[in-house]
Amino acid sequence: MDFQFTEEQLMIQDVARRIAQEKIAPSAEHFDQTGEFPLDNIRLLGENGLMGIEVPTEYGGAGMDPVSYVLAMIEIAEADCAHSTIVSVNNSLFCNGLLKFGTEAQKQKYVRAIAEGKEIGAFALTEPQSGSDATAMRCKAVKQADGSYVINGKKSWITSGPVAKYIILFAMTDPSKGAKGITAFMIDTAKDGFHRGKTEPKLGIRASATCEIEFTDYVATPDEVVGTEGEGFKIAMGVLDAGRIGIASQAVGLARAAYKAAVEYSRERKSFGQAIGSFQMIQAKIADMKCRLDAAELLTLRAAWTKAQTEKHGGRFSTEASVAKLTASEAAMFITHAALQIHGGMGYSKEMPLERYFRDAKITEIYEGTSEIQRMVIARNETGLR
Ligand code: CAA
Ligand code: FAD
Repeated sequence: MDFQFTEEQLMIQDVARRIAQEKIAPSAEHFDQTGEFPLDNIRLLGENGLMGIEVPTEYGGAGMDPVSYVLAMIEIAEADCAHSTIVSVNNSLFCNGLLKFGTEAQKQKYVRAIAEGKEIGAFALTEPQSGSDATAMRCKAVKQADGSYVINGKKSWITSGPVAKYIILFAMTDPSKGAKGITAFMIDTAKDGFHRGKTEPKLGIRASATCEIEFTDYVATPDEVVGTEGEGFKIAMGVLDAGRIGIASQAVGLARAAYKAAVEYSRERKSFGQAIGSFQMIQAKIADMKCRLDAAELLTLRAAWTKAQTEKHGGRFSTEASVAKLTASEAAMFITHAALQIHGGMGYSKEMPLERYFRDAKITEIYEGTSEIQRMVIARNETGLR
């Protein structure tokens, strides 16, 4: 693994940092308080190639590699976690999914607008009764004599559901086959039979809009099937491997923001006549935060590097992605908690961003597979047992 970044990687990191610091960080508190969707900021990110970082330029993206994606995501998440959720779903779940499994016609038709940030993409796997146990889905797609599918059912917790133009949907086409009876579809939210529920009120990442979606006799044509019939679960899992690197990057960026704030405050805040950073108990916190932050960042970069290698030579990077996601999300929880504690009463106040960091961190341990599911993936892969 090369610890030197290339000129292109540093360039996209720089672009992301500039937009993150100039536009996103100053508006983060507003979007957190109002829960409004930050459409102008998302459009700006899209104009600068950040909504389709790994998408080849011929489909409207920046044509960069997985390490560039991680570097850009960290910068955006450091400014605001909620923005980075929208960026992550667009990039690694929607665009990556279609690029990997879509037909040429599907790539031409659906990727460009999403990669350019003119439209928003989403990914719908979870249902009210099936989250971790994704194959227990009930949303059904029934094949008709003309080859089209009629879709009925609900999906819950869909990030960007309230604003998405296109959604990659997973539905059961043959319940008797379990995981092998699931098929992926490209959904156009403007078509009849698609409905959005109310936007969920959430603890954190409040600017990222999430809702339930419902299908009533929605008709998908054969050319709207992504991959082949019955291949949907493998597509979902493969796409989530990439997505988990995005969430790991998000956790690193958020943790870095909290860590920097804590170090600065520990130097400035005086207690018992000295800077609180000179107390051993605060120093121990800073040292533990630094170790977890660096471990999270390095493991996330390793996952991105492994993904780039497997793209050249084939294979999976599930373990590296889950190790990165698990380590980084737990680091984000630990670091935002410690950073808030170092700020004392001010950490609890809405006048500082620490309480927002703390609220935002929690989601990284839940979505795209909970910490328990990451441990399951890692241990199954390591032991070969189930
Ligand atoms: N890549 C390719 N194929 C994979 C795979 C991967 N990473 N993981 C599993 N598969 C294949 C298996 O090889 C198996 O195929 P074969 O039978 O041909 O070998 C098939 O998929 C079924 O696998 P399992 O038997 O392991 O499936 P399982 O039912 O035990 O579930 C699980 C495994 C890891 C728990 C999985 O269900 C899972 O990841 N659950 C979490 C769901 C999740 O992460 N949801 C996220 C929703 S999106 C989101 O959250 C977005 C957001 O917030 C922003
Ligand atoms: P459950 O699966 O019911 O789990 C409950 C608890 O039991 C968890 O602690 C879990 O780890 C534990 N558990 C379950 N099974 C096991 C096991 N075998 N061993 C040990 N412990 C276990 N989904 C999408 O499809 N698209 C999205 O865009 C999306 N965005 C989201 C955005 C937000 C803000 C949230 C909160 C969720 C989002 N999700 C999305 C759904 C998310 O992926 C699920 O919430 C997550 O996978 C967990 O599923 P669940 O909520 O049903 O919890």
